[in-house]
Formats: sequence, structure tokens, C-alpha cells
Amino acid sequence: MTTTDIFKTDILKGKVAFVTGGGSGICRGMTEALLTHGASAVITSRSLERLEKAAEEMRKATGGEVLAVAADVRKPDEVEKAVKKAIEKFGKIDILINGAAGNFLAPAELLSYNAFRTVVEIDLLGTFNVSKACFPYLKKSKGSIINVSTTLHYTATLFQVHVSAAKAGIDSMTRLFAVEWGPHGIRVNCLAPGPIADTEGFSRLLPPGGSNEYLQAIPLQRFGKIKDIEHATVFLASEAASYMTGHIMVVDGGECLKKVALLPYPASVLNPKEIMDKLRAKL
Ligand code: COA
Ligand code: NAP
Repeated sequence: MTTTDIFKTDILKGKVAFVTGGGSGICRGMTEALLTHGASAVITSRSLERLEKAAEEMRKATGGEVLAVAADVRKPDEVEKAVKKAIEKFGKIDILINGAAGNFLAPAELLSYNAFRTVVEIDLLGTFNVSKACFPYLKKSKGSIINVSTTLHYTATLFQVHVSAAKAGIDSMTRLFAVEWGPHGIRVNCLAPGPIADTEGFSRLLPPGGSNEYLQAIPLQRFGKIKDIEHATVFLASEAASYMTGHIMVVDGGECLKKVALLPYPASVLNPKEIMDKLRAKL
């Protein structure tokens, strides 16, 4: 089932989306869904080559207009330049998706200072930088923001201190911006995907032992698909969600409700060097 089997094809007609991380994985799917329903999009990340390729494929698949602009979300000057290019091309921004992120499994005691900072900078500071740069335009368009979080920090997920700290901050920022920017007509919501198959994040976080046991522990008995996130994206971006703000929408088949040990414990924690070597070898 695609989003067009559920939503009208023109519900986002004339809207302009700015999507960080829009050249790959989940956020590429989110972008494609918006294009399919009539929006135009600016996709941004560090690799212009990957963005250009994705933009060309999405134009062909949807007939929508897509602009690819390279920017590192950690660098406010690059972010501001990318936003300027978006405005030069489309004149406005209606929908901001903050999806750029980095992740890998690492035991806290072997995570370097720089590694922790890197992930927090991409996920959390990046979300702030891009939201701030887009704010004047979202205010003009009475637009909306969809942040991309996770469910890893709802419980203490092993080897995820960096991402858990960053995404908890994003959840908090979602609520804060919803309150501060609501009076300007800006809605701020957040999508929290569970394990989404065939994505970079999924392959990086899958337990080294494999996926079967993990799959069986998910209440809906399947891993998520990028399509599942696309459906939620079109809903949150559309008028259907016009009275929703500050909401964190979990799309995970019930996974976070049920505690399951993804990784062996305590042996892996007691031998961090061994698990770190295994995890690095997996990438
Ligand atoms: N385990 C432990 N530490 C790691 C690591 C791993 N798998 N990968 C990188 N690091 C450390 C590096 O060693 C470095 O720390 P150091 O300077 O103390 O050695 C630090 O993290 C920064 O790494 P670097 O490669 O310079 O950062 P980057 O900005 O080029 O890349 C990453 C950012 C590390 C997050 C990279 O994995 C990335 O680009 N990810 C994007 C894709 C992704 O993660 N997708 C999943 C989204 S859920
Ligand atoms: P992905 O394809 O690797 O997406 C991450 C994107 O971020 C890439 O397009 C990457 O592009 C971009 N990026 C990384 N660092 C950047 C930086 N410094 N500046 C700008 N862009 C940067 O991974 P994914 O699995 O689809 O994840 C997408 C989002 O979903 C992330 O927010 C992730 O936390 C969230 N999520 C994923 C899962 C899952 O199961 N996959 C589960 C929960 C949450 P460049 O390399 O070109 O910069």
C-alpha cells in the first residue's frame, strides 16, 4: 500500500519542503512521499553527489521539483547558505524535516570524547541550527516542522549513550519549539521510528547475533518499512494534523513497549574492547 492509496494526491500541492538527510534512507522516503502529494523539495546533507543522484531519481519517480544542496548541519554558515538557496529557488519553506543523523554502537567507556560530541552535534545541534535558520520562513508560511527521533532513549539501550542523549534533546526541543512558535502558527511534531528494515540505521544497530529473536519480540511481528514512516509523514505535514503540535509519534509496531535485550549482557559490557572490535568490524 502506498500513500496515494490512503491520501489524496494533491493534499500538499504548492508546499515546499526542506529535508536534511533527504538523499538517503528514511528521509529520502519521507521526501518522496511529500513530492508524490504535490510538494517540491530541497534535500540537503554532506554528499552532493549522493543528493544529486537521489534528486534525479525522485524527479523521475514523482514528477516533482527537487533541489539538491550540500550542507553540514553542524555548521550554521553552511545551513544558512542552503536555506538561502532554497528561498532563491522556491521563495518559501512550508515543511522542515530534521532527519540528518549519525549513529553506531559503542560502549560508553570506549566512546571517545569526540565521537560522543560528533553524534550530539549532528543530531541535536543540527536540529537546532536548521530549525533556527528556517524559522523566519516557517513563520511567514505558517509552516510545520517534523523532527526525526527514535525510541532508544525510552529505556536505557546499551551502547547508545550518544544517540540517546541527542534524541532525548530533540524530543525536548520539539515540545519547546511547539510552545514558543505555536503562536506564530508553526506546528512542531516529531516522528520516532522503531527498527526500519533496509536502512543504514537498521544495519548499524542490528545485534551482531542476527535479527530473528529481535523480530519475534516485536508485537506486530515485523520490522518497519520506509513506507510506514512515509504514511505518518504525509499525515503530520497535512491539514489532517492541523491541531497537533508538540507530539512525538512513535511508529514502531509496538517495539518500544516490550523490553528485549538486543545485545548480550553483561559479558559485552564487562569486555568492552571485545564488543567494540566486533561492532567496528560489522560496519
Ligand atoms: N565506533 C566508535 N567510534 C566511532 C565509530 C564507531 N563505529 N565511528 C566513528 N567513531 C568516532 C571516530 O573515531 C571519531 O572519534 P576520534 O576523533 O576520537 O577518533 C569520531 O567518532 C568522529 O568520527 P568521524 O568519522 O570523524 O566523523 P564524521 O563526522 O565524518 O562522521 C559518523 C560521523 C561517525 C556519525 C559517521 O558514522 C556518519 O557519517 N554517519 C552517517 C550515517 C549514519 O550514521 N546513519 C545512521 C543514522 S541512524
Ligand atoms: P541514513 O540513510 O544514514 O540517514 C542519515 C542521513 O543524515 C544521511 O542522508 C546523511 O547524508 C545525513 N547526514 C549525516 N551527517 C550529516 C551532517 N553532518 N550534515 C548533514 N547531513 C548529515 O540513515 P537512516 O537509517 O535512514 O536514518 C534516518 C533518520 O531516521 C535518522 O534521524 C535516524 O536517527 C532515524 N531513525 C532511523 C531508524 C532506523 O531503523 N533506520 C530508527 C529510528 C530512527 P550524508 O552522509 O550525505 O551527510
